[in-house]
Amino acid sequence: MSEHDTTERTDATTEKLVELAKRRGYFFQSSGAYGGVGGFYTFGPQGAALKGNVEDAWRDRFAVAEGNMEIDAPTIMPEPVFEASGHLEGFDDMLVECPDCGESHRADHVVEDNTEYEDAESLPIPEVEEVIAEYELVCPNCGAGLAGQAVEAFNLMFDTNIGPGESQPGYLRPETAQGIFVEFPRLKEYARNQLPFGVTQIGRAYRNEISPRRSIIRVREFTQAELEYFVDPEEDEPDLESVADVEVTLYPADEQNAEDGSEIAITIGEAVEEGIIANEWVAYFLGVAKPWYESVGVDMDRFRFRQHLSGERAHYAADCWDAESEIDGNWIELAGFAYRSDYDLSKHEEHSDDRFTIFKQYDQPKTVERATVDPDMSYLGPEFGGDAQAVVSELEALAARDRSAFEGETVEIELEGETHEIPAEKTGFSVEEQTEAGEHITPHVVEPSFGVGRLVYTVLHHAYREDEVDGEERTYLALEPEVAPTFVGVFPLQSDDELVDVAQEIVDDLREAGLSVTYDDSGNIGRRYRRQDEVGTPFCVTVDFETIEEREAQRASEDASGDEPRAEETTVTVRERDTTEQKRLPVDDLAETLAAIREGDLTFDDV
Ligand code: ATP
Ligand code: GLY
Repeated sequence: MSEHDTTERTDATTEKLVELAKRRGYFFQSSGAYGGVGGFYTFGPQGAALKGNVEDAWRDRFAVAEGNMEIDAPTIMPEPVFEASGHLEGFDDMLVECPDCGESHRADHVVEDNTEYEDAESLPIPEVEEVIAEYELVCPNCGAGLAGQAVEAFNLMFDTNIGPGESQPGYLRPETAQGIFVEFPRLKEYARNQLPFGVTQIGRAYRNEISPRRSIIRVREFTQAELEYFVDPEEDEPDLESVADVEVTLYPADEQNAEDGSEIAITIGEAVEEGIIANEWVAYFLGVAKPWYESVGVDMDRFRFRQHLSGERAHYAADCWDAESEIDGNWIELAGFAYRSDYDLSKHEEHSDDRFTIFKQYDQPKTVERATVDPDMSYLGPEFGGDAQAVVSELEALAARDRSAFEGETVEIELEGETHEIPAEKTGFSVEEQTEAGEHITPHVVEPSFGVGRLVYTVLHHAYREDEVDGEERTYLALEPEVAPTFVGVFPLQSDDELVDVAQEIVDDLREAGLSVTYDDSGNIGRRYRRQDEVGTPFCVTVDFETIEEREAQRASEDASGDEPRAEETTVTVRERDTTEQKRLPVDDLAETLAAIREGDLTFDDV
C-alpha cells in the first residue's frame, strides 16, 4: 500500500469502483439497452485504453523480451480439436439447479461460500452432493434447500455449427492455447526445429460460466494472454539465475493442507533449492511474472502464488501455480502457470494426420537395434481382407513395443476388440542394426496463462484511493503511468482565446511526442483536476495568465533586441496526481520531460 493511501478497503470499495468504472468509461455490462446479459462486459474508452496498455506491457515482457513469436488464431475451432484436447470430455464445472426458482449455481461455489471447504472444485461430485445435504445448503437466490438435488458435470464450451446445417460442429475456444497447439507442425518450422521456443497469443476465450459474477472477474467472454513454451524436458533448462533473487509469497499445496499452514516469503532460487517449486520452468516464469505484475500496478502486499491442490488441476496439468490477488479479503486467480508436459502435442499427434514431434539431432550418430516386420501379404490379404493393412500396423507397433511377442510359433494381436493369432513366420519379424542421426521427440509445454480482464480489475482496485485535498474529499486512481489510459490532461485556466490557443499548441506537442492526452476546458479547474484524478491521469498541465504574460514578455524582448524569443521562460503548471504537488515547467521541454517520466527515465521529484 502506498504512503499516500488512506483508503479503508471494504466491499463498499468494490461497489464504488464498479460505479466509477461505469460513470467514467472503464467497463459496464453489455447490451444494457436490452436488459443486459450476465457475463458480458464492454470496456469503455478508458477501460479499452487501460486494457490495451496492459496487453502491450505483457507483449513487451513475455513475447519481445523473451524472444518468443506471437500469433493470432481464430476463436472458433472444429470439434476434433477439442476431442483431442480433452475439453469435450472434461472441461466441466459442477452444476446444481434450485428445485424452486430454477436458478443454476456452481455447486462447488455454493459449498465454498457456506462451509469451511476452501477448494470444493477438487472434490468428486458425489462428495459435493453429500456436503450439500450434510450442511443443508440452500439456493443463494431464493433460499430453497438444495439437499437431494443432483449435481451435474456441465461442459463450459459454447458450441456452434460451422457453415449451414449441422455437419460440422464447432466450438468457441475456451482457451487461446489450442490455437497454438494445433499449429505446432508449422510453428516448429518457423522456429527452425530448434527447442526451446515460445509462442504467445493475446485473444478472446469463451466459457459458458454457470454463474458469472463479481463484475468482470467471472465473465463468459474474456481476453487471455498466453505463452506456450516448448522445451526438451531432458536437455533444456531455464535461466534460473536471472530470477533467483526475486522475492515471492508462495502458498504451496502442503501449507494449504496443513492445519496451521501459511504462506511463505522466499526467493525463487530458495524455493527451487528446497523443492517447493518442483518444476524449474514454472519457477522461472513465476520469477519473470512477479516484477511484471508489480510494474503494471498490482500491490505486492496483496499478491501471491498458490499451488493447485492435486484434485484441482486441469486435465492437462502435471503441476500448476496460480498468481492470485486479494480483493476485499478474497483471493482471485489472475493467471495459471501450468506444466502441461507432452499432453497436448501427444493428443493432437494421436488424433490428427500431422506430426507434433520435433527431430532432435544426436551429437554423434548412434547405432541402435530396431525390431521390424515385413509381413507376408499373400497370407494376410486372403486371411484379413480389408483389415490386412490394420494388421500390418498392429504388428509394427507390437514389434516396436515388445519383441518377445514374436518369440513363439504364433503372434497375438488385438483388432477392434478381437484377438487374432498369426503364424510368426508370416510376420517377417527381424531385428536389425541401424545408424540413426537423431530421434523424434514430443516437446513438453510450460504455460503461463494470464487473464487480462481480471488483471485490469485488480489494477483498478489496487489503485483506488480516497483522501482529502484542501478540506475536500477526493477519489483517485493511482495507476502506473505505463498503463494509465490517459497520461496527461491539458487545461486552459479559463476559456479565454489566448489561453485556449496555447493549451491547444501544448496538446499537439504532447500528442506528437506519443503521449495520450485529453483536453478539458469545462467547469472550474478544481473540478477538472478531480475528473482526471478519478480516471487516474498521472499529470495535468494548466495554462494560466502567467503563461500568457511570460509569452508576451518574451515577444517584447524579441521586438526590442531582435533576438529569438527565449521560449524556456514560458511556463505552465504541471500537477502530479497522487501528491497533488504542482511545479512550473518550461513549455519547450514539456513533451520531452513528460515522455521521460512515462518511460520511467525520470521522476516528477527529479524535475
Ligand atoms: P477459475 O478457477 O477462477 O474459474 P480457471 O482456473 O478456470 O479460473 P484458467 O483455466 O487457468 O482459469 O484460465 C487462465 C486465466 O484465464 C485465469 O487465470 C483467469 O485470469 C482467466 N479466466 C478464466 N476464466 C475466466 C472467466 N470466466 N472470466 C474472466 N477471466 C477468466
Ligand atoms: N490455457 C489455460 C486455460 O485457459 O485453462
